Amino acid sequence: MAAAALMAISSTADAMPLRLISALESSMAESKYAMPAADGVTVDKDKEVILARAAGKVYAFALSCPHQNTALKWLPGDNRFQCPKHKSKYAPDGKYIEGRATRSMDRYQVRKDGTNIVVNLDKLYEEDSDKAEWPTAFVTA
Ligand code: FES
Repeated sequence: MAAAALMAISSTADAMPLRLISALESSMAESKYAMPAADGVTVDKDKEVILARAAGKVYAFALSCPHQNTALKWLPGDNRFQCPKHKSKYAPDGKYIEGRATRSMDRYQVRKDGTNIVVNLDKLYEEDSDKAEWPTAFVTA
């Protein structure tokens, strides 16, 4: 299970913190979360979903690295994600920086529901094959 490898790393004052969260409501198809009030990264280990708010946008990522499905880590001191297996690096919006992976982090389809964000667990977009959907898979905070 990818979540088993998740490592929560203590935050620093100048970096986006990581917290563990649970869905407000959840089904097989959707999970609803409170909209993040500030920039930061939260992880729902049960659903293997990363919620990240950065520069006014909120994204939901698969916890698994797009290379070989290792659970990604958030490095608050470096303000980026990193895969512990082959060290691929990703920006807070999931964009690929460097490493063995060949695409950015996979993004779930998301929508606003009042003050919440709903993640469609059936719609996971890959940057290279979902060229229209991946860039717009976010909501504004
Ligand atoms: S599994 Fe993440 S870079 Fe290889």
